[in-house]
Amino acid sequence: MSTDFLEWLGHQQGRQYELHARHINPAFVKMLQTIGFDKGFVRGQGCYLYDADGNRYLDMLTGWGVFTLGRNHPKVRSALEAVLSGELPNLVRMDCSLLAGLAAEKLTRHTAPQKGDSLTRVFFCNSGTETVEAAIKFARCFTGKQRILYCDHAFHGLTVGSLSLNGAGFFRERFGDLMPWTESVPFNDLEALDRTLARKDVAGFFVEPVQGKSCEVVSDGYLADAQALCRKAGALLVVDEVQCGMGRTGKWFAYQHWPDVEPDVVCVAKALSGGYVPVGAVITTPKILDSVFNTMERCVIHSNTFGQNDLAMAAALATLTVMEEDGIVENAATLGAYVIAQLETIMRDCPFAADVRGKGLMFGIDFKRPENSFKLQAAWDALHALNFGVFGQMVIVPLMQEHRILAQVAGYHTEVIKFLPPLIITKPDLDWFLSAMREVLENTRRIPGAAWDTVMSLAKGAMRAYSR
Ligand SMILES: Cc1ncc(COP(=O)(O)O)c(C=O)c1O
Repeated sequence: MSTDFLEWLGHQQGRQYELHARHINPAFVKMLQTIGFDKGFVRGQGCYLYDADGNRYLDMLTGWGVFTLGRNHPKVRSALEAVLSGELPNLVRMDCSLLAGLAAEKLTRHTAPQKGDSLTRVFFCNSGTETVEAAIKFARCFTGKQRILYCDHAFHGLTVGSLSLNGAGFFRERFGDLMPWTESVPFNDLEALDRTLARKDVAGFFVEPVQGKSCEVVSDGYLADAQALCRKAGALLVVDEVQCGMGRTGKWFAYQHWPDVEPDVVCVAKALSGGYVPVGAVITTPKILDSVFNTMERCVIHSNTFGQNDLAMAAALATLTVMEEDGIVENAATLGAYVIAQLETIMRDCPFAADVRGKGLMFGIDFKRPENSFKLQAAWDALHALNFGVFGQMVIVPLMQEHRILAQVAGYHTEVIKFLPPLIITKPDLDWFLSAMREVLENTRRIPGAAWDTVMSLAKGAMRAYSR
């Protein structure tokens, strides 16, 4: 059956763009075709994607951060195959899943490694945004307060609750009124946080230790001080580690880079799936979770139909095991430091460089109007008169077309480009990326030149594509 299915699928190859344009999202297809990313990949393995001609591409996007173990990791797959062939009871609902208990035990070994540590409870769901929705409810329920604080440029997901904590107007506009009692504070600004918390009506302060959209990192001491301010005001500190957790920054969880930080809630998703089965997890303390599930009547007062399903739990368990056994976190720390240092050196020669940011294998580059060259300034201004935030495509498009490296700009209306390589990546592959970056950035100085011609026509094309 599976051979038949794959054979049948093989015969359908090439129909994806037409099908998506007709049934799923024509604007997305248009965008892909505009920047030449319609590669029709047919296979993924480890750090690489392959097109139908067998060309190999380095994956520096990892499905927005889910393939930390690379694509199709054999140990995770074999756990899933065992579950499928094992005829397990799965989702009985009126029973306790053994796999869920084991996954929770293994996960919390990394948030509560010592006896007495309190991040021992887990609520499982199916995505990152669901973890944030749950955390909003838990914070409100536990504190009995309403207000939720979030940071400028924050990204916590796109369902209505988490969208209400989004720090970018672009995502919020056109969707009507969002959740009341939410308020933004400037990132890394303790005084502003203190002033807002002083009203004593805050249930939770939500923060990404490394912001997904900007790659900004919390400054040293910020999280510990924010935690102290939250405790003083009776608010919870919620760290959203959906993207920066699970080894991505070179620690199991990013907040662990700073001693004395013990958040009240940690949101995890993406990489916990092993890249196979969607899963989310809210890790918190017994006190907080017991306040939500405080009676037998309310024992499923917050729940979801597919949470704790066997495939998701097995994927999470196998992923955590591979991470523990294969030194994945250590690799992210070592190679992350290497690639960021190398990028900083490369960017010293780039007149458009504003900043290299990030931690471990979550890093980005911010671009700015050049300070010295009149010619480069004029080119920058002409591009920005057409479309703000398209400069990054001058790096991302040739990375793909000339160097077979897949990456993406960090968001719309921003000059930041971001890279999320697999955490199993090797130094030779990072050197492939670094030498490509050297060449691509060098080409941004050539005016007139092919890179500028391409991005100018893209800016005009993109204007048309998005102005519908
Ligand atoms: C920090 C953060 N929180 C939440 C989310 C939402 O996750 P999901 O797309 O799985 O809903 C994301 C997604 O990129 C994220 O980066």
